[in-house]
Amino acid sequence: MNRRTPAATPLALLLALALALLGAGCTGGVEGTPGAAGLRDPYFPGLGNGGYDVTHYSLKLDIGSSADDKHGSSTQPPDRPADRLRGTATITARATQDLSAFHLDLAGLDVEGATVEGRPAAVNRAGKELIIRPGSAVEDRLRKGRTFTTVVRYSGSPQTITDPDGSKEGWLRTADGAVALGEPTGSMAWFPGNHHPSDKATYDIEVTVPDPLTAVSNGELISRRTEDGRTTYHWRTAEPMASYLATLAVGRFSTRQSATPDGIRLFTAVDPESEAASEEVLDGIPAVLAWSAEKFGPYPFTSAGAIVERTGDAEYALETQNRPVFPGPPDTALLVHELAHQWFGNSVTPKSWRDMWLNEGFATYAEWLWAADHDGVPVGESFDEAYEDGANWAFPPAEPPSAADISEAPVYGRGAMVVHRIRLAIDDDEAFFDLVRGWTETHRHGNASTDDFTAYVEEETGEDLTELWDDWLYGESRPPVED
Ligand code: TRP
Ligand code: ZN
Repeated sequence: MNRRTPAATPLALLLALALALLGAGCTGGVEGTPGAAGLRDPYFPGLGNGGYDVTHYSLKLDIGSSADDKHGSSTQPPDRPADRLRGTATITARATQDLSAFHLDLAGLDVEGATVEGRPAAVNRAGKELIIRPGSAVEDRLRKGRTFTTVVRYSGSPQTITDPDGSKEGWLRTADGAVALGEPTGSMAWFPGNHHPSDKATYDIEVTVPDPLTAVSNGELISRRTEDGRTTYHWRTAEPMASYLATLAVGRFSTRQSATPDGIRLFTAVDPESEAASEEVLDGIPAVLAWSAEKFGPYPFTSAGAIVERTGDAEYALETQNRPVFPGPPDTALLVHELAHQWFGNSVTPKSWRDMWLNEGFATYAEWLWAADHDGVPVGESFDEAYEDGANWAFPPAEPPSAADISEAPVYGRGAMVVHRIRLAIDDDEAFFDLVRGWTETHRHGNASTDDFTAYVEEETGEDLTELWDDWLYGESRPPVED
């Protein structure tokens, strides 16, 4: 729900004001301007959209509905229900400028129509931009500061998107259904939205699937209704979520609900073929959460859990909010990593994709901390191993050379080394963990950048750490370490 506003010079403001007044003179009223098509992310400049801030998404999705087949024209095989969806997205947003039109991000799918404030709106497509032009009757409802509702009706066969680094995201077909993964751009494959991490929102996701499939998403399961062999699952995310962390898994799942001793609600969904091999590690979720809360501060969400696919269904794990997706039975290190992301990434979310090391550096450091506390591997040893690994020195973690590099080794390994160098600089474990817990508390459910982080650390420690940042965060080469 945050929005960065570009700094404007007084001259530019004056000019804009003059132009606005001129415009008003011509038309007899204050006119809006179109919202920007992208938020100028340093790695994905077209992602997200300007001029508004989404507060809530309500998605109603129908998976493999037989209604698609009523004219007998569908070529969809009946055993691949997750190949098609029909959706209605109701998007509540606040205008951050007077808007005449605005963009949503959507890849593929057919848009059947849209309304803004209940009135039909004109719809255009240009690549991954969905451009909405509201009717003139509701123009005044899109004045700066006002909240307006957009409804988009769409359908089709959702796309699998290939990342700049070649990995697959978006809508991935699995052996018995599909799973939606959204880092960094994949969520636009299954719903229209402001798909940049800086615009967090709450969600209601209602998904109807044919029996015997289950639909699992983020947040809490509010209701489940079965009618005519189709079941609707209503999932609610009442805590802010970046759209790349939204997920939907459709398939046959063994599900379990319980709660931790601290009252965190747990929901796990496991592909039956992965069940036996997952059980022991998943039983450890309450212990991992309790241990993490000691290190990082209170768990930021109401619920937690996991979605475990069948081996081969996905290529990598993702820290989808509340309920990470695992591509097969996870080991404890991977579980620790994805649960650490609930603090680092999901609650404290990067302002832009340049800040990815704040996610992966801390999640990797969590693995090192776990290994120290449970496997007798001192953190210094994990550090040394990462230091010796040439892959970690390909580039500085805070400045990946391109969009294809944001999930590469330096972002993880060297990111974790940055965290450890801060701990060494502080040289007081209590103060170090106070600093970490203070960080997650300060930016809880918000967004933060690398600059926010370095400024925070310097302010809290009262130390000038320029050299540490220059060497470990931004330096091109491997800094020497004292023995
Ligand atoms: N961020 C994920 C994790 O660390 C991994 C991940 C997501 C990833 N997308 C990717 C790794 C693309 C490589 C390529 O848990
Ligand atoms: Zn990670």
